[in-house]
Amino acid sequence: MAWGKKIAINTGGGDAPGLNAVIEAVVMASSKLGWEVYGIKNGYGGLLNTNDIVRLTPEVVRGISNLGGTILGTTNKGNPFQMPITNLAGETEIRDVSDRVVENFKRLGFDCLIAVGGDGSLKIAYDFYKKGMPVVGVPKTIDNDLGGTVITFGFDTAVSIATEAIDRLHSTARSHDRVMVVEVMGRHAGWIALNSGLSGGADVILIPEIPFDIEKVCSHIMENELHGRHYGIVVAGEGATPVGGKELAKGTGEAGRQELLLGGIGEYVAKEIAKRTGKDTRSLVLGHLQRGGSPTTFDRLVSLRFGAAAVRMVEKQNFGIMVALDPPEVKGVPLEEVIGKIRKVPLTSDSIQTARDMGICLGD
Ligand code: F6P
Repeated sequence: MAWGKKIAINTGGGDAPGLNAVIEAVVMASSKLGWEVYGIKNGYGGLLNTNDIVRLTPEVVRGISNLGGTILGTTNKGNPFQMPITNLAGETEIRDVSDRVVENFKRLGFDCLIAVGGDGSLKIAYDFYKKGMPVVGVPKTIDNDLGGTVITFGFDTAVSIATEAIDRLHSTARSHDRVMVVEVMGRHAGWIALNSGLSGGADVILIPEIPFDIEKVCSHIMENELHGRHYGIVVAGEGATPVGGKELAKGTGEAGRQELLLGGIGEYVAKEIAKRTGKDTRSLVLGHLQRGGSPTTFDRLVSLRFGAAAVRMVEKQNFGIMVALDPPEVKGVPLEEVIGKIRKVPLTSDSIQTARDMGICLGD
């Protein structure tokens, strides 16, 4: 039998539409080579508790590529290198349990791990690679902020959902002569805000890459008012900041979570606009709607291509890499070159220029 007959696959971090399509492609392509695939449940949790591993056969996965979420479950708190463990006294301490994961991986006879995740999960995968585990990464995140690939799957779906929401806001905003501020996801990168704001015909788009001046935002809205447009749509990426200000976060964070949960900028901007312009203003947060439901055709295809490419990398024993879209190819890039490098919207990008050419206010 060919090398690499026992493959493990896991999904880590926040879910993104397209995860199940990756799983389907990995299982179908592996099965064609006569290999077995096992799904590790809940990130690396399944390798700590070995009951949480499921055999994935073509019968199990055929037809799941159109389903949202992940059949394997996921978590953004389960870093085995920094696991919060609550002791008998009820105190939580951080421990490195990565050796246990490696031991279980070896004991179960796995030949490699296909790790599907965003920056945090791929960093963990790389750390396991450095401990001797053969790993191939698959880039996932609706935020589209990973280096090394021109796009991550989940992003197109999130932008489509956000655009549809913005489209719907126009009629209610117009009917009431209101300003509607919609907060979208994206953490430190403005891809979702910029692409959905442009496609949805927003008047103002605020992204983390361009600190905004609220006075300029308000002047733009009042200028529109003078020209007979009595309503406005503002799209704010959750990581957008006023000039000299900081990202707004919700609470102080959850145990085991690497980054703060962002949120609140939409409400802040709406209050400032109402105060400074006197206009009736409302805000809403699209939140996890952007991650739910079926992947778009584009995301489904990218996911299937990534899954099949990951199996080709395993066949070539090309480990410590991440599959990446470099049109028209899907290629492998070393994990060490991409992790920790957030891909932000370049200020010179054509999309930014398009927004400026169309008179959309970017807050600067
Ligand atoms: O990274 C994906 C993402 O959806 C971000 O856009 C968002 O800030 C975060 O995850 C939300 O995380 P959670 O699912 O833990 O609320």
